[in-house]
Amino acid sequence: MAILITGGAGFIGCYLVHRLVEADQEVVVFDINVDNIEDKDERATYIQGDISNLDQVREVIEKYDFDSVFHLASILPPKTEEDPYFAFKINIEGTMNVLNTACKHGVKTIIYPSSATVFGQDRQPPFTEEDLRDPWTVYSSFKICNEIIGSIYSKKFDINFRAVRFPVVIGPGADPMSGMSGYPIEMMEDALHGVPFVAKVTPETRIPIIHIDDAVQVLINLWRSDQLHFEIYDIDGLWVSAKEIADGIKKVIPSAEITFKPAEDAMIQKVLTGIKEEKEKDRFGFKGKRLLDEILQEYISRKKPEK
Ligand SMILES: NC(=O)c1ccc[n+]([C@@H]2O[C@H](COP(=O)([O-])OP(=O)(O)OC[C@H]3O[C@@H](n4cnc5c(N)ncnc54)[C@H](O)[C@@H]3O)[C@@H](O)[C@H]2O)c1
Repeated sequence: MAILITGGAGFIGCYLVHRLVEADQEVVVFDINVDNIEDKDERATYIQGDISNLDQVREVIEKYDFDSVFHLASILPPKTEEDPYFAFKINIEGTMNVLNTACKHGVKTIIYPSSATVFGQDRQPPFTEEDLRDPWTVYSSFKICNEIIGSIYSKKFDINFRAVRFPVVIGPGADPMSGMSGYPIEMMEDALHGVPFVAKVTPETRIPIIHIDDAVQVLINLWRSDQLHFEIYDIDGLWVSAKEIADGIKKVIPSAEITFKPAEDAMIQKVLTGIKEEKEKDRFGFKGKRLLDEILQEYISRKKPEK
């Protein structure tokens, strides 16, 4: 039985492909952008295709005997906010194409990465899977829509949909431009390239992060477990302030120049500082293995040969 990874050419997808093929799984990647993958895995099959094109989705799902789908293909911020209708075609219609076709063709499990942004800017921890979702972006409203339709399919049909709400995923290959929370990546990239960085947040601004290897482990745990009771899980990650990240980077790259100039856009600042307290306990029980210093060390050492 094979595994389909939509969006398998992206940041999280590339790491997931390696992990699954290393575990001797037959992996098929379906992505609109397979030509530009730097880190292709020879052991996987790569198919160029668009999830918003139902015929293409049908063709790939009919061709292989898939048992499971990791559905990662998506448009991310800021593109979702700039062109909501385009994002709707991919994130909502595309997801329905994948979900419905997979369901019709006997796929047993769909794993979906949702986002911690579904809780809204004034959220107060601790959160649970039942907490009110209160999105403030097009991106997070689409995440909620997919969580709901996925869990309805789990209840109505013979398919097991599981989603995990990730915090900001950090690791080499992450897109620093992705939304308001991309600054930890930008900080590291600029430090690595000797470029002074001005963070558009206050030094106290805290966000939850998770290392890419831990995020991939969560996806694999969700896929493997047959003892889970929820369709949607929260992963809290490690809550760190912008100053802690800057100080951690300076320990590894003492010459790094990082200063803070909070955005004048009150909305952005409100969103970021609204996420300010630690969640006490997460239901999934997975915090990630790495501490901030390890995350930064690993990011920087994996990237250093490029210099
Ligand atoms: N990176 C994070 O911090 C983070 C946090 C929470 C959730 N997520 C979710 O994880 C998933 C993967 O995110 P990522 O960081 O790897 O993003 P990414 O942009 O690196 O990967 C997305 C992939 O989807 C592909 N894609 C886009 N449109 C497509 C289409 N029409 N048909 C087929 N493929 C298409 C892209 O080519 C890309 O390879 C997304 O659903 C994202 O919302 C990511």
